[in-house]
Amino acid sequence: MREQLEQIRLQALAEMQEAADIVALDAVRVRVLGKKGELTAVLKQMGKLSAEERPVMGQVANAVRAELETKLEERKTELEAAALLEQLALEAVDVTVPGKEVRMGHQHPMNKVLQEVKEIFIGMGYQIVDGPEIEEASYNFTRLNIEEGHPSRDRSDTFYFNDDDSVLLRTQTSPIQIRVMENQKPPIRILAPGRVFRKDEADATHSPMFHQIEGLVVDEGITMGDLKGALETMIKRLYGEDAVVRFRPHHFPFTEPSCEVDMQCFKCGGKGEIDGQVCPTCHGEGWIELLGAGMVHPKVLEGCGIDSTKYSGFAFGIGLERMAMGRLKINDLRLIFENDVRFLSQF
Ligand code: DAH
Repeated sequence: MREQLEQIRLQALAEMQEAADIVALDAVRVRVLGKKGELTAVLKQMGKLSAEERPVMGQVANAVRAELETKLEERKTELEAAALLEQLALEAVDVTVPGKEVRMGHQHPMNKVLQEVKEIFIGMGYQIVDGPEIEEASYNFTRLNIEEGHPSRDRSDTFYFNDDDSVLLRTQTSPIQIRVMENQKPPIRILAPGRVFRKDEADATHSPMFHQIEGLVVDEGITMGDLKGALETMIKRLYGEDAVVRFRPHHFPFTEPSCEVDMQCFKCGGKGEIDGQVCPTCHGEGWIELLGAGMVHPKVLEGCGIDSTKYSGFAFGIGLERMAMGRLKINDLRLIFENDVRFLSQF
C-alpha cells in the first residue's frame, strides 16, 4: 500500500506540473482526489490492514493528500496568472499604430458664396428671413403686380400643384417681399435666400432648380442711389474693387424703375469669344447677368398696406449660382449640382 500511495503521489505531481490549463488541472484533481478518485480508493482498503499498520498508513495517506492539495493550489495560481498575462497581451492596444485617415469635408462652394453674401448684408444691417418653397400664386405673382396672362405664369414655365393654378413651386424669392411687408412696418431691411423652381432645361447656365437671394429695403426717403450703393458694395466686396459691373435698364412688374446688373464675363474677359468660338459661359454676350433690381412699385407697397406717399423702397433678386460661378470661376452651372467630389474638393 505504501508503494501504491507513492506511485499515486509521483504520478499526480507530474501530471499537475504538466497540466497546460485550469481545465486539465481540474481533471487531475477529480481523478486523484475526487470522491471516486484513486487516493480515496486506496483509503477504502485501510480496513484490511492490521491495527498497528492502520495509523501509520493513515498518516502517510494524509500527508500525500495534503501535499497534493498544496501542489494543486500552487499550480492553479500559476496557471491563472499565465492566463491573465495571455489575455492582457491579446487585448493590448498599440497606440502607436497610425490611425485610419478621416477625410474632412467642407462647405459646398455655393454655400460658401451664400455665406459671404449674407455676411456682407448683415454688416449693412439686413435681417435674414425665410419663406415657403410651396407658394400661393397670389404671393408669387398677383401681389407682385404680375397679372393673369403674364408669360411667366404660363404652365410651360411654372410648376403648378393644382388645376386652378393657385399653388405652385415658387419661381422666384420675390414673394418673400410680400410676406415681410404684410407683417412688418417700415423700416424694413431684409435678405431672403432660397430655392426657386422653373421649367428650364439644364444647360451651362440654366437648371430647373436654382437659388436666389432676395433683398428688400423700405423706409422714408429711399432712392435708386441707395440701391446702387448697396449692390456696388456687395459686388466689390465679393469680386474685388476692380470688378467690372454694369447697371442696365430693364423691366420687372414689381419695380419701377427697374434694372439688371451684369458682371463682365470672367471666362472670355468680356470679348464674347475665345479663339474664334462663341464663349460658352456668357453665350457671346461678354456679360453675365447677376441680378435684377429696382424701386418697389407703389402698387406693391399699397397692396401690403404701406403708404407709398410716405415710404419708398428698393428690392433685388440675386441669382446665387451665377454669383458663385463668377466668384469661383466655374464655367458650367451643372457642376454645382452634380456634386462630383473631384469638383467639390477644389474649393
Ligand atoms: N424675381 C426676379 C427674377 O426672378 C428678380 C428680381 C428683379 C427681384 C427685380 C427683385 C427685383 O426683387 O426688384 O427674375
